[in-house]
This record gives sequence, C-alpha cells and structure tokens, in this order.
Amino acid sequence: MLELKQINKSFTRGKTQQRVLKDINMTIDDGEFVSIMGHSGSGKSTLLNIIGLLDRNFEGSYELNGIDTKALSKKQYTRFRNQNVGWVFQNFKLIDNMTVAKNIGLPLLYQGQRHADIDEKVQFVLDQVGLADKGQTYPKLLSGGQQQRVAIARAIVTQPNIVIADEPTGALDSQTTDEIMTVFKQLHAQGTTLIIVTHDEAVGVQAQRMIKILDGQVMGDADEI
Ligand SMILES: Nc1ncnc2c1ncn2[C@@H]1O[C@H](COP(=O)(O)OP(=O)(O)OP(=O)(O)O)[C@@H](O)[C@H]1O
Ligand SMILES: [Mg+2]
Repeated sequence: MLELKQINKSFTRGKTQQRVLKDINMTIDDGEFVSIMGHSGSGKSTLLNIIGLLDRNFEGSYELNGIDTKALSKKQYTRFRNQNVGWVFQNFKLIDNMTVAKNIGLPLLYQGQRHADIDEKVQFVLDQVGLADKGQTYPKLLSGGQQQRVAIARAIVTQPNIVIADEPTGALDSQTTDEIMTVFKQLHAQGTTLIIVTHDEAVGVQAQRMIKILDGQVMGDADEI
C-alpha cells in the first residue's frame, strides 16, 4: 500500500516560485490499477516521480509498504526503489548498444545476482511480453511497440510490486497502444499494482480508478467506484 499525505512541491525559477503539487492526499492499495490524467503541466510527472521513488524533495510524507521513504538513507532509498518499483517511460529509455536481454537484465545486475539466474529471469519475462526470440537483437531493430515491451520486461524482471508508467503509449499508434495495454492488464491480473499517467482517455478509462489532476491538485478520484 502507498500513502501520500499533504504532499506539496514547488520549483524555483530565478526569483519566482511555482507551486506544482498542492496538498495531495492519496492512498493506493496493493493490486490497484490506477490512471492519472490531466493537462500538460498539471503536475502528473512530478507526482509520479515522487510515487516512483525518483524524487523525495517534497513537503509532506510518503509511506510505501509501511516504510517512511524520507527516513531511508540515500543508499536504502535507491535499493528500496530497485526492489519495489518498475519504471516504464514514454520513450522507452533502452540502451541502444546493449542487446535486449542485457537491457532487461540490468536491474538484476545492479542487485548483484548471478549470471545464470539473470539469464533465466530475463527469458521468463521475455516470454511474458511476447518477445521470446528477441533477446539477442538490439533495441533499435525493433518496432516502437516491441521496444516498449522490452522496457516493460525490464520493469518487471525484479518482480516489483508496483509498476509505474509515464505516458507509456504516448509514442505509439492506437493498435500498438492496445497491444501494450493488454500486457499491462495481464500484469494487473497477476496482482501487480499499476499506476499509469496518460493523456489518452482511451487508455485512462481502462484503469479501475481514474485520478484527475488539475493545476497540481486532485480534482477527481474515482476511488469509490
Ligand atoms: N525540474 C523542473 N524545474 C522547474 N520546473 C519544473 C521542473 N519539472 C517540472 N516543472 C514544472 O512543473 C509543472 C508540472 O510539470 P510536470 O512535468 O509534472 O507536468 P505534466 O503534467 O507531467 O505535463 P506533461 O503532460 O506535459 O508531461 C510545469 O509547469 C513544469 O514546467
Ligand atoms: Mg509529464
């Protein structure tokens, strides 16, 4: 479970301060599939970076699985992210000069796992995203949808309990978007907590719960449905 309490965040540009997140309170239970929608600049990525443990420079408190994320040392915080969160981005963020298999295995390498174990886990998630025979190819030789599948495989190879995606279908056409959403829905069916930021209403409505952000505030949260 994750629990955000009274989150406020501001960015300073020159002499002006911009309040980007305003009094955000939110609880997301294990296994929920949540979409976060809102206009460009409304603060969605800023919020996601906090939830996904990339940013803890904010006011308020954030507890994930009962752990106060601000109480962790820098090293513990990084390890906590690596163990609990898988990230998927709009532009995939794959390393082009590494094979697909090496890209996917990277988070396990950071964990210090043995090569034989890494190979086995990589193949398992490649199967899961429908790319069983693509491990030895390179990202740039794949379509956008296939590259995003690789990115999802990399996000789930550590078996995180939360997968966080910032506009994961933003660079994809509608058919490829449907394919990627099918992969996400399978993950959700397996019990993964899924949080997706999207501009695309057709993507947003596929979640169980849609949270609308307007100008840094939660304007609508279909938590009760
Ligand atoms: N590192 C930063 N430094 C200064 N201002 C920032 C920074 N990151 C975001 N902002 C500002 O915070 C506001 C919210 O940005 P954010 O990226 O969270 O919006 P968003 O809802 O994700 O938008 P988009 O849909 O375009 O991705 C914007 O006004 C942006 O300019
Ligand atoms: Mg954004």
